[in-house]
Amino acid sequence: MAKYVAIIGAGISGLPAIKQCLDSDLIPICFEQNSFIGGLWRYEDISEKNKEPYSTMYKGILTNTSKEMSTYSDFPIPADWPTYLNHSYVEKYIDMYAENFNLLPHIKFNTTVLKVSILPDKRWKVQYIIQTENKEKEEIFDFVMVCSGHHRKPKLPEFKGMNLFKGKQLHSYKYKRAIDFENKRVLVVGAGNSAMDIAVELTHVASQVYISIRSGKLPWITPRFLKGKTRDHINRFSAYIIPPSIRGKIKENSIIKSFLIPSHLKLPTDPLIATLPTINSEIFQCLAAGTIIVKPNIKELKSENNQIEFVDGTILENIDVVIYSTGYYIDYPFLEKHIYTGGDEIEQMYEKDFHDVVWLYRSIFPPKYPHIAFIGVALGAGAFLPISEMQTRYVTGLIKGSIKPLPSQNEMEISIRKYYENIRKNLCKSARSGIRLSYLPYMDALSKEVGCYPHPYEIFKKFGFNFWKLFMFGMATPIQYRLLGKDSWEGAKDAISLYNKFSFKNSIRGSRSYKSWIYILIVLLILLNRNGGFKKLINVYWKIFNK
Ligand SMILES: Cc1cc2nc3c(=O)[nH]c(=O)nc-3n(C[C@H](O)[C@H](O)[C@H](O)COP(=O)(O)OP(=O)(O)OC[C@H]3O[C@@H](n4cnc5c(N)ncnc54)[C@H](O)[C@@H]3O)c2cc1C
Ligand SMILES: NC(=O)c1ccc[n+]([C@@H]2O[C@H](COP(=O)([O-])OP(=O)(O)OC[C@H]3O[C@@H](n4cnc5c(N)ncnc54)[C@H](OP(=O)(O)O)[C@@H]3O)[C@@H](O)[C@H]2O)c1
Repeated sequence: MAKYVAIIGAGISGLPAIKQCLDSDLIPICFEQNSFIGGLWRYEDISEKNKEPYSTMYKGILTNTSKEMSTYSDFPIPADWPTYLNHSYVEKYIDMYAENFNLLPHIKFNTTVLKVSILPDKRWKVQYIIQTENKEKEEIFDFVMVCSGHHRKPKLPEFKGMNLFKGKQLHSYKYKRAIDFENKRVLVVGAGNSAMDIAVELTHVASQVYISIRSGKLPWITPRFLKGKTRDHINRFSAYIIPPSIRGKIKENSIIKSFLIPSHLKLPTDPLIATLPTINSEIFQCLAAGTIIVKPNIKELKSENNQIEFVDGTILENIDVVIYSTGYYIDYPFLEKHIYTGGDEIEQMYEKDFHDVVWLYRSIFPPKYPHIAFIGVALGAGAFLPISEMQTRYVTGLIKGSIKPLPSQNEMEISIRKYYENIRKNLCKSARSGIRLSYLPYMDALSKEVGCYPHPYEIFKKFGFNFWKLFMFGMATPIQYRLLGKDSWEGAKDAISLYNKFSFKNSIRGSRSYKSWIYILIVLLILLNRNGGFKKLINVYWKIFNK
C-alpha cells in the first residue's frame, strides 16, 4: 500500500522532499504556511508595512555558496548565471525547479502545522490550520519530514540597560535595506555572516558603523573568491588525499597574504578548520578605511546620550541603532522538544558546549523516533540545497524500503555520541558547532546508502580518463551524484563538464594549479616509493576500488 508522507515547509528542503517522494511512489502532502514556495529566500520588503517578516532575507543578500556547489543534482542552476546569486536569482531557480517537476499540486498553501504527535501504531497525527478559512483539521501520516528551517526564532542577547536605551534596537531578521539607516550611527552586534554583511552594506549610507565582537578578536573571514577560485571550490583529490589540517593551513595563508588587516585588531587564534569562518569579501577594505570600527563585547547600554559601554571600558555616544546579528535558535514549535533534542539528560550533557543540541542520527533521524526525519539541520563547508536534497533521497529510500534499513536505536545513539565527541575534540565551542557537517564525507556516506556514490574507478571505466580527471580535480559539484547508480541522469556528465568549463575559464590559475597538483602527486609518489610506501599505497587503493 502506498505510504503517506507529511512534509512541513516548501522551502529549498521541502521541495526536493516532495520530488523524491514522487520518484519513490510515495504520496507527499506538503504543508506551507505561506502562499508561496521558497521559504526564507522569498524576499519581501516589509520596511513600510508594520508586520513581522516571514523571511530573514535582506535586499542586498548574495549567496555565500557558489551556484556550482549549491545546485540540485538533477536540475543544474544555469551555467551562465552569476557565480554567487542574489535572492531574486535563487527565487527564480526555485520556481523553475518546482515547475519542471510539477511540485505545486502537492502543496497545501496558507496552511500552518500546529502540532505533530505520535500515535501508538507509530504513525503521526498532523494538526493544522488553513489560514484562509480559519479552519483546523487533522490527518494521519505514515511518515513526517520536517523541512521548516532553523532560521526562524531569533536569538537576542541580554545586556544591562537594553530596556533603558533610547535608540532603536532590532534583530537582524528584521533588517531589510541599508537605506533605512541613512546618516545613522549604527552598532552591529555579532561576527557571523549576517553581522558582516549588514555592517558592510551600511557603510554606504550610515554616518559610522561599529561592530561588536564578543570574543574581542576577528573570526576567520574568507572572501567569496580566493586565489581565482570560489571559496567553496573543493575537489575530490585534495579532499581525500590532503589532510584537512594542511588544507586549512593553505587557506589560512592565502587569506593572510591577500589582505592587510589593521595591526591593532586581534586576529583569530584558533585554526581555521576548527572554526566556522565568516564569508565576506569587502569587510577588509572597510576595516582598513575605518568605515567599520571593531569594538569588544557590550557591557551596558545607557539612556544618557544613547551611550554604549564596552567591556574594555570604552564608550560610544549617540548610537542611533543597534542591530543584534546574533543568530537563531533551532526550534520546532509543533513538536515536543525531546523528540529532536533527545530529552533533558542528553541536553544537560551537551548544552554547555553546544547550546543548540539536536539528537539526530546522521543529522536526520531521532533514534527513538525513526519515522520522522529532519531535513536541512546542517551547517558545513557546503551549501544547503544539495545537502537537503541528498537527505531526502536517503529518507525516501528508507521509507520505501529500497535501501539498507537504519541501525538499531542503540547503534544510532552511539553514532551521535561519537559525532559530538569528535566535534568537541576538533572544533571550537560555539552554538553553531552542534550541527556542523563535513560536506564531501557526509554526502559520499549518504550517497553510498542511497546507491548513487560516484566511485572513482567506475567513473573511469564508464566515462574514460579525460572525464575522470575532471571528476577528481574539478569541483565536486553535487551533480556528481547523478552520474552512476540510482536515479542517475543522462545529462549529468555534460552538466559537470559545462560547470568546470565556466569555472576554469573564470580562473586564470585554473589549469596551472591543476598541473601543480599532478606535480605534487608525482613527487609524493616518488618519496613514498623510497620506503616501499608506493606499493602499500597501491594496495590501499586496490582495496578501496574493489570494495
Ligand atoms: C540570511 C541567510 C542567508 C543564507 N545564505 C545561504 C547561502 O548562501 N547558501 C546556503 O547554502 N545556505 C544559506 N542559508 C541557509 C538557509 O537556511 C538555507 O539556504 C535554506 O533557505 C534553508 O531552507 P529550508 O527549506 O530548510 O528552510 P526555510 O527556507 O526556512 O523554509 C522553511 C519553510 O517552512 C515553512 N514553515 C515553517 N513552519 C511551518 C509550519 N508550522 N507550518 C507550515 N509551514 C511552515 C516556512 O514558511 C518556509 O517556507 C542562509 C540563511 C540565512 C538566514
Ligand atoms: N550572505 C549569506 O549567504 C548569508 C548572510 C547571512 C546569514 N547567512 C547564514 O544564515 C545563518 C545565520 O547566520 P547569522 O550570522 O545570522 O548567525 P550566526 O552564524 O549564528 O552568528 C551569530 C553571531 O552572533 C554572535 N553572538 C551570539 N550570541 C551573542 C551574544 N549573546 N552576544 C554577542 N554576540 C553574540 C556569535 O558569536 P560567537 O561566534 O561567539 O558565538 C556570532 O558571531 C548562517 O547559516 C549563515 O551562513 C548567510
